[in-house]
Amino acid sequence: MKNTENKNNSSPHLPFGDQRTAPWYGKSIISVKQFSKGDLKYIFEVAHEMREMVGRVGTFDLLKGKILANLFYEPSTRTASSFTAAMERLGGSVIPINEVKYSSVAKGESLPDTIRSLECYSDVIVLRHPDLGASQLAAQYARKPIINAGDGIGEHPTQALLDLFTIIVERGPVDGCTVTMLGDLKYGRTVHSLSRLLSLYDVKLNFVSPDILSLPREIISELQEQKIPFQEFTDLDSALPDSDVLYVTRVQKERFEDPQEYEKVRGTYIISKQTLEKAKEDLVLMHPLPRVGEISMDLDDDPRAAYFRQMEYGMYVRMALLAMVLGKA
Ligand code: NCD
Repeated sequence: MKNTENKNNSSPHLPFGDQRTAPWYGKSIISVKQFSKGDLKYIFEVAHEMREMVGRVGTFDLLKGKILANLFYEPSTRTASSFTAAMERLGGSVIPINEVKYSSVAKGESLPDTIRSLECYSDVIVLRHPDLGASQLAAQYARKPIINAGDGIGEHPTQALLDLFTIIVERGPVDGCTVTMLGDLKYGRTVHSLSRLLSLYDVKLNFVSPDILSLPREIISELQEQKIPFQEFTDLDSALPDSDVLYVTRVQKERFEDPQEYEKVRGTYIISKQTLEKAKEDLVLMHPLPRVGEISMDLDDDPRAAYFRQMEYGMYVRMALLAMVLGKA
């Protein structure tokens, strides 16, 4: 399955724009900017089908014989294991490289060389890397599709897709929603991807963060260009009552150069039972996880707490994406 489109150094290989007429076969998934509203509708239709199939038969052979390389230069619980589960439920198999320190990366191998090696053994590569733009770089060298599983403080497109799928499953149509994102909006790549995806819809956005962790101005400008109504706050009180979705994030400790700066902002927001007294009864409370105290555990039984269901939906979305880039959806 040689993919010449992905094998280039200079010409654009990303399927930006509406690709409804072109299949996703062999395409890399690097940024949510690749997706049109039509693409999202299609992905979610496939994800719904995957959910139904898993419920009915558990595992099936759509990707039998295909191999995924899971290449993680940063820690991961959910993303790595849900891609593994997704591939295995579709009958494929996985080369797990979760600890790059035990791979040739520890000997100084470059990312392009590691990618060119792994693609000899696999049909698709899922990559998480601490550097902004790492997946884009990998895709320039790869003949096989690269799926960005987080590139530093850049994007996390598959998380944003599963976040949006969660909103749809839990609540229904995205249009008309007020979504409030809370926490580390500066370094939180999931927020970057999700706010970009939401800007395809008729939504209102609230961004709540400490001043030093506000949403990057680049994304603010994109929202302004798209004429998305949004407001920025430092406390949750005024944003919460109108919110249909509250998307809570962890302060990204590993991105801080100065540990004292982290200490100043950690624990700024803690969502508790008391906080939710002022929220809508049908609020969807989300978190990409891991949480490190931002949502009190006593909320876990609240029907509005969607974060564990959100995780499960992620597997169906990743099954859909794998089937698409491997030409089976
Ligand atoms: C997120 C990430 O890695 O960006 N985790 C995830 O993939 N679910 C969020 C985080 O680490 O805080």
